Amino acid sequence: MSIGIIGGSGLDSFSDLSVQEQRVVTTEWGEPSAPLCFGTLGNTEVVFLARHGVTHRLPPHRVNYRANIAALRAEGVKAIYAVNVVGGINGEMGPGDLVIPDQIIDYTFGRGHTYSDSPDQVLQHIDFTFPYDDSLRDRLLQAAIACGTACETRIHAEAVYGATQGPRLETAAEIARMANDGCDIVGMTGMPEAALARELQIPYACLALVVNMAAGLSEERISFGQMETVMANNMPLVRKVLTQAVASRQH
Ligand code: HPA
Repeated sequence: MSIGIIGGSGLDSFSDLSVQEQRVVTTEWGEPSAPLCFGTLGNTEVVFLARHGVTHRLPPHRVNYRANIAALRAEGVKAIYAVNVVGGINGEMGPGDLVIPDQIIDYTFGRGHTYSDSPDQVLQHIDFTFPYDDSLRDRLLQAAIACGTACETRIHAEAVYGATQGPRLETAAEIARMANDGCDIVGMTGMPEAALARELQIPYACLALVVNMAAGLSEERISFGQMETVMANNMPLVRKVLTQAVASRQH
């Protein structure tokens, strides 16, 4: 049984994996973002997929989320850990913090967001009350506490992830509205990925790294250079947390 890891910005490859094979696959929904990377972490088989492609070319609205999740399912993946970088809306969630969201508000549009998309597909109305799998979230949390405490990383066990369309960042008014809606963090890739995993009944959880304060919440304008620095400084920890979460118990 293998575990899927979907890497986002700052995590286009997963060097900790002892890579045994890279394979280009295709699905009835088209090609996933990148070749699948098959390897092991400890004793667990892992399939890694770079959400934005190997050279980070795919913007959030062009990611073929349906093909990505379908490809992982076709390879027998039984659980998915997704990594996303996000902006902080909740004042408690600042750059460098790790967040394990428990809820989603979806503001995206025009993305291939369901497998129930033609008369010959079974029409599903999935239950999405709790969009993430609690047992995977708990594994991420325990791993984050074990790995993050030493470097004084703040860890948040609950948050509402607001998924925006991108690729532009939000306006200050949009972030104010999202804060009012109850969003704690904002990112561009959390949806429809989570819902598609649920449609295919694959347990799914998200490990989010805050790389900036969202629009209008800090004195300075948002700088891509600063985001990249936070990513570079914190991705080693993110990889450690994932490694530990995968190794923690039998899934
Ligand atoms: N907004 C949307 N997506 C993001 C942000 C943001 O501020 N930071 C990182 N991903």
